[in-house]
This record gives sequence, C-alpha cells and structure tokens, in this order.
Amino acid sequence: MLHFLSLTLLSLLHFSSSFTPLDNFLINCGSSSNSTVDNRVFVGDSAKPISVSVSAGKSISLTDSNPSPGSSNLYHTARVFTGASRYEFRIQQAGTHFVRFHFWPFNSRNHRLKSAKFGVSLNGYPILRNFTTKNAVIKEYILRVDDKKLEVLFSPEGGSRFGFVNAIEVFSAPGDLIPDYGPRLLSPSGSEEFYNLSSKILETVHRINVGGSILTPFNDTLWRTWINDEDFLVLKSAAKPALTTHTPNYQEGGATQEIAPDNVYMTAQQMNRDNVTSDSRFNISWKFEVGSHSARHLVRLHFCDIVSKSLNLLYFNVYINGLLAVRDLDLSVLTFHELASPYYMDFVVDSDNSGVTRISVGPSDLSPVSARNAILNGVEIMKLVNFVAQQSEDKKKNIWVLVGSIVVGFVVVCLIVLAVLVALKCKKKKPKPRPAESVGWTPLRVASSYSRMSEGTANPYLGPNLYLGLKIPFADIQLATNNFDRSLVIGSGGFGMVYKGVLRDNTRIAVKRGVPGSRQGLPEFQTEITVLSKIRHRHLVSLVGYCEEQSEMILVYEYMDKGPLKTHLYGSELPPLTWKQRLDICIGAARGLHYLHTGSAQGIIHRDIKSTNILLDENYVAKVADFGLSKSGPCLNETHVSTGVKGSFGYLDPEYFRRQQLTDKSDVYSFGVVLLEVLCARPAVDPLLAREQVNLAEWAMQWQQKGLLAKIIDPHLVGKIKPSSLKKFGETAEKCLAEYGVDRPTMGDVLWNLEYVLQLQETGTRRESHEDSDINTSELPSHSAVPLPHSSNIRTERSHGYASGDISTTQVFSQLMTNEGR
Ligand SMILES: *[C@@H]1O[C@H](CO)[C@@H](O)[C@H](O)[C@H]1NC(C)=O
Ligand SMILES: *[C@@H]1O[C@H](CO)[C@@H](O)[C@H](O)[C@H]1NC(C)=O
Ligand SMILES: *[C@@H]1O[C@H](CO)[C@@H](O)[C@H](O)[C@H]1NC(C)=O
Ligand SMILES: *[C@@H]1O[C@H](CO)[C@@H](O)[C@H](O)[C@H]1NC(C)=O
Ligand SMILES: *[C@@H]1O[C@H](CO)[C@@H](O)[C@H](O)[C@H]1NC(C)=O
Ligand SMILES: *[C@@H]1O[C@H](CO)[C@@H](O)[C@H](O)[C@H]1NC(C)=O
Repeated sequence: MLHFLSLTLLSLLHFSSSFTPLDNFLINCGSSSNSTVDNRVFVGDSAKPISVSVSAGKSISLTDSNPSPGSSNLYHTARVFTGASRYEFRIQQAGTHFVRFHFWPFNSRNHRLKSAKFGVSLNGYPILRNFTTKNAVIKEYILRVDDKKLEVLFSPEGGSRFGFVNAIEVFSAPGDLIPDYGPRLLSPSGSEEFYNLSSKILETVHRINVGGSILTPFNDTLWRTWINDEDFLVLKSAAKPALTTHTPNYQEGGATQEIAPDNVYMTAQQMNRDNVTSDSRFNISWKFEVGSHSARHLVRLHFCDIVSKSLNLLYFNVYINGLLAVRDLDLSVLTFHELASPYYMDFVVDSDNSGVTRISVGPSDLSPVSARNAILNGVEIMKLVNFVAQQSEDKKKNIWVLVGSIVVGFVVVCLIVLAVLVALKCKKKKPKPRPAESVGWTPLRVASSYSRMSEGTANPYLGPNLYLGLKIPFADIQLATNNFDRSLVIGSGGFGMVYKGVLRDNTRIAVKRGVPGSRQGLPEFQTEITVLSKIRHRHLVSLVGYCEEQSEMILVYEYMDKGPLKTHLYGSELPPLTWKQRLDICIGAARGLHYLHTGSAQGIIHRDIKSTNILLDENYVAKVADFGLSKSGPCLNETHVSTGVKGSFGYLDPEYFRRQQLTDKSDVYSFGVVLLEVLCARPAVDPLLAREQVNLAEWAMQWQQKGLLAKIIDPHLVGKIKPSSLKKFGETAEKCLAEYGVDRPTMGDVLWNLEYVLQLQETGTRRESHEDSDINTSELPSHSAVPLPHSSNIRTERSHGYASGDISTTQVFSQLMTNEGR
C-alpha cells in the first residue's frame, strides 16, 4: 500500500515531461472547480459537462468544512456514493493504462468517511472488496483496456451505506511499460517464461528508490511516488548508498525514463565493505511486506552500474525469496558496454505464507576479489490482482514442504551418487561388440521407411572448418533484431533472451542471445552448435548460424511462428488444439527425437525434453529445440553415458536420477511426461495443486492403472477422443514412464504407437489379433510406413563404430562426410 505523501511542496517551476499520455483523465471528485497539482489540472466532476459521465442520483458531493492546512485541494472534496455508481471513461488509445484512486477520509458531520466500506471494480473486474481506510491512501492499478471505455464502479458493501473517493487518475501508459515477453516466473523448481503479463491487472504494492530519496509525482514522468529503502533493509550496515550526479546513459534495449525516472538510476545501494575484509562475501537483503494471502507478484528490479570504475568488473547474483533469479549478472554486457546505463528485469514470484517478499543481491565468483560488489537501484512490487490461486493456504504449505524435501533429497542423492561415481571412476568397461539386432532395425522397417529417407539430411556446411559457414557477423544480427529491440523479445531461457528478427534476405529468424559475458552458458552454447550443425531434420529446429564476436554468444534459428507447444496446452488464451492436431504434434516430435537417437553417428540424447522445448511452426509442425544439454549417446561399447544430472524438474527419468546413467530411454521417459501434458493440459509439476496431484506423471499413472485416465483429460477433449485411441495413447505413455529404462520402448516404437493411436482415432478400428500385445515392431500395420530417416547412413556409420570402438566426435564427422561423398 502506498501511503499518501504530502504534496505540499508545490513548486512553480515548470516540469516538462517527455511523455504525454493520449488518454488523460484527472478528476477532482465532488468538486465544482478545477485544481492544479504538479502542473496537472484535475477537473471538478460537479461542474458539467466534463469528459466522463457520472451516473446521476446515487452520489453526492461532499466538501471538507475544516480542511487541514497545507493539504492539497484534491483532498478538500469527495464524491460520496450512496448506491452503486459509475464513472465511464471514453478510451481513445487501447492498451495499458494507469488508474489511481486517492482516498482521504476527512471528517464530515453527516458522513463518517472513515466508516465507509465499499467495493470498486474496473470494467467489471472487482479490485477492491469491503475496502475501508482511516488514513490517506493512494491505490494504483495498471491494466490493459481493450474496449472503447473504462468503467469504474463504486458500490457500498458489508452493510455500509456509502463509499467515497477524492480523486481519480486514468491515463495511458507507455506501450512498453508492461512487456508480454521477458518476465521470468520463478519457482523452487526453476524458472520459465511468463507470458501475457499485460493482460493481468497489476496493483502497486511497493515502489522503492533504493539508496535514494523520496520522489514525488512531480519528479516522475508518470507521476509515481517512490520511497527510500532504508526501512526495508534487513541489515542496514550491509549496504552503503551510492550516488552519481551524471544523468544516466539511456540506451535502446534498456530502461527508459518512463520505466523509472533518472533519480532512481542515479542512486543505488552497494555492499558496505567499510568494516569487513575485502574478500568477505555477504548479501544485501530487503524484506517487503506483501500481505499474508498467497498471491503472485511482479517484481521489477532496476539496475544501473554507477559504482564500477570500468566495464566487466561487476558481476553479482540476484535472489528473490531465496530463489536464484539471476546468476553472474553482468550489466556491462546487457547495456552494450556502457557504464551507468539503466536496465531493468521483471520476475513473477508466488508469495509464500511469510507474507514478505525478500530480495537479495550478493557478489558472484566471477568478479575479481578487489571488485566484489553488488548493487540495486530500484524495486517495484506489483500484485497480479486477477491471479487465482487454486488451492487453500494449508494445502499449499504442505506442497512447499514437500517440494523442499524433494529438492533436499535430490541434492543428497546427487552427492551420494557423485561420491560413488568418483570412487568407481577407474573401473572401465571392456569394449564388447554387440549383435547388429540390438542396435538398429529389422530389415522390414528399413524397407518400409525407404520413402521417408529424405527427412533427415546431413548439414551441407560440414567441412574442415566445421562451422565456418554458419558464422554470422554481429552487425547483421543487430540489424535483424533492430539492435535487440525489447519489443521483439519472444522468450527467454536459462541461456538468455530470444528475439525475433529478419535477416537481410528476408529469412525470419529467432535469435537466442546468451547473457553475454557470463561464461556459464558456454558449454551449452558449444553443444548446441556441435549438435545442430551436425544434423538437419524436418522435426528438429534448424540452426541458421551463430555469432561469437565481442564476448557475445548468439545462436540463430529458423523462426517458429506458433511458439512452444506448452503455450497451446495451458496457461494462455490460445484456442485449444484438437486431438488430431495434438497427435500430429506428438508424432512429429517423436520423429525428431527418434532421428536424434538413431539418425546420426553416435546417437544423441537430448536430455531436456519438455513441452517448452517442442516448438511449432506456422503449420503446427512440431520441431524439437534446445539442444544445450544434449550428450552424444553411448559409444557402441557402452550402454550409457555417466554424467551430472541435468534436465528439468518433473520430466526427469527416475533411473537417471538414481544412477546417473544417461541413455536414450531418459528422453523416452521425459517424452512420456509430455504425452500426459498434451492429454491433460496441465504442467508436469504444479506445486499449487494438492499433494497427490503435484507430479503429473505419478498422478496420471494412478488414474491410468485404475483404467480411469479418461477422467483427468483436458476438458476440451472430453467426448472427442475415441476410446480405443485414448486407451492406446494411455498405454504408450505408461510404457514410456516405466520405472526402468529397459522396460521402456524405443523412440521408434513410441512413434509407431502414436501413429497407431492416430489411425485408431481416424478409423476407429483396432486390429483384434494384436489387441493387447506389447508395443512391438511386428505390430506394424501394413499400410502405415514407419519413418526411418537416413537409415542407410546409420548403418554405414554404425559399422564404422564397431570397428573403432571409442570414437570421437570429429572422427564421426569425417566419417559422415566420407559417407555423404559416396
Ligand atoms: C476545468 O478544466 C476544464 C478542462 O481543462 C475546462 O473545460 C473547464 O472550463 C474548467 N472549469 C473551471 C471551473 O475552470
Ligand atoms: C463484506 O463483508 C461482509 C460482512 O461484513 C460479508 O458478508 C461480505 O461477504 C463481504 N463481501 C466481500 C465481497 O468480501
Ligand atoms: C522532487 O520534487 C520536489 C518538488 O516536489 C523537489 O523539491 C525535489 O528536489 C525533487 N527531488 C529530486 C530528487 O529531484
Ligand atoms: C565501522 O566501524 C566503526 C568503528 O568501529 C564504526 O564507528 C562504524 O559505525 C562502523 N560502520 C559500519 C557501517 O558498521
Ligand atoms: C545470499 O542469499 C541467497 C539466498 O537467500 C543464499 O542462497 C546465498 O547463500 C547468500 N549468499 C551469501 C554470500 O550469504
Ligand atoms: C496472450 O493473450 C492474447 C489474448 O489476450 C492471445 O492472443 C495471445 O496469443 C496470448 N499469448 C500467449 C503467449 O499466451
């Protein structure tokens, strides 16, 4: 809640704001005269006509007979609503708007404003319920108005006879104030994109000028109030204010003066090293009350490096509610190698039962000891008003405990497994040749797939300078993305931001830009280039090129119009996909994965299959993306790859988790989870649900085993799936999720089964003779071709593999080339 700050320091100085809102309604409620505050004219609503209509009859104007000396004119009058009454604002510019209400319950003989209790709604959405105040309060909301009008409805509630308001502001916000792409949703299981923020109603809870002074509406381009952070610091002595007198270097792609005024970026808190040794590490932490209700908040953090003497010295970590929000944040690179250049980051977090939001910044290991520091310039916390938590408080509490213990358990298991692995490190298996059948395909399959062979082709760029043909100059990428224009951001991942762009030759591209300077992503970056330049397939997102100039790590892909599969399943307002569309998508993704596993020299394990990594093009053709964690599959003398457990929570193969042995069956498990997501239209892990429902795989398998999977399918699919099709689909998912990898089908088998599911849906017939047979290649329907891309090459490469045993990637490349040449 923003407490009202006296507006008495009215100066006659002209304050020119660079932003002029198109819609700009400032109402001095209950007054017949205009009142000028901070050079803005608030129009009295008792004098007719005014640009808004107030419904007549149920409201009266009230004047404070004894106004406090020095208080603003705005607070000398109020409109009192004795019944439901509305203000209607005619909106010219659709888009994000600010709405502010000023409440000052002054003393009046006939109406005790302090006892008023009322509700307020915006375009029908209730934002205040049973609201009552004894103090001066400003309530601020930010919402998108798509209609031609904004209706503000006041109605007495809870037995009260009236409500009131002293002033109302409704004005257009800058278009990029609330971006739809870029915010990260943080949760104990990791972070993911948060879409469609602009469609949420935001209520300002805190707005803080960290390390600086109070900023009044007079000092702010959008007439906001910012207050100092001292009272929120957990340990005051940990922080030391920093101040510059130079105006910030605003840049394209960073913050603007509308995002926050100069003064926010010209002050900061930094680590106070006065009384500690230079190599000690600690966080600066703030605690902000956000109310005890479980709610979701937008946390906007403002940064501007006003403390560094030179570039690339300041690296720090940012935590929100104890979760790592940004690791090794290097502002120099985000701000195109300029110091003192404003930048902001948005996070969406769920508040826990503590009722506070904690924000910490602390030094990263990457910064030189002498320059260890961490800064923060500003914080805004806004509540997502129209976010509905699905579960009651105590259920949630259990879930957090559960999730917490899972995470702790996971770490312990990892440590033990790691110790065992290290101990066993020297024990190496002897290469032993395998029979051909266990590796590849029966001749039947090869023959039947002949017609689809062209689906996978090797990368034409492969040459002695392996990836040279894929290099793209930084300047070209800057041009294609309008110098990384924020409005072109289409997503973000652990790796960094993803922008949409157009190359000079009109190729539409997606540009994934690593958080530059952070070498964290380097192995993933290199893996992705290695893997993607090696392969090209209709169902794998293809790499257009990459850029490695000036400590940049940029990957350029073909543009995928319809984005991630996940957003078409839940959490967005996109139209639901039909069952056939879903099956086609699953089949496409399975085909891509099958190709990864079998189609290249050693077989590639994706390791991070999930619905956000399956992208859809304009025709809803599925393509598997994000190969950053991929590993080359087992060499033919081994059955698994030992490796640190990576991947995404909720999709992780339990066997991989326990034994740290990675096989292509780990991808099959994750794919099984995706199949369930597609069927049930809910996330793999949803900590907000009741305990037994949190993990989709576990929950759905309980229903599957009871034969009641149909009970939990996406409501949009109810009555649309033929029972035989659903049965086979459920069985396929179940097999994928088998406890042990050996019991799971191969991706090829999964693919075949999904095609069969589709066939069952379309013809409704099921061949009796195989009614309950296992998933098995012999089940191949005569008219259905099993796709086996690139089969002839696989065979040739594999035979090389037998001979050479431990084969390195480059060797495989050269073999691939030789084969291509034949
Ligand atoms: C108040 O301002 C409005 C718009 O600026 C103007 O039309 C109106 O005449 C003013 N009313 C008074 C009483 O000055
Ligand atoms: C407002 O409070 C009254 C009791 O004072 C209660 O009956 C009513 O349900 C409340 N309304 C809302 C919308 O919370
Ligand atoms: C903010 O505006 C007030 C006038 O309302 C002025 O006195 C004060 O100096 C300004 N503060 C800054 C930091 O500009
Ligand atoms: C640092 O130590 C000095 C002397 O002990 C003390 O006066 C000062 O307040 C301390 N400063 C901080 C920020 O703790
Ligand atoms: C900073 O805070 C985070 C989150 O609470 C914590 O994980 C980390 O260990 C802290 N760092 C230091 C140096 O205290
Ligand atoms: C956001 O919502 C709009 C409709 O309000 C919809 O058209 C759009 O596709 C949604 N975007 C995402 C990514 O969910």
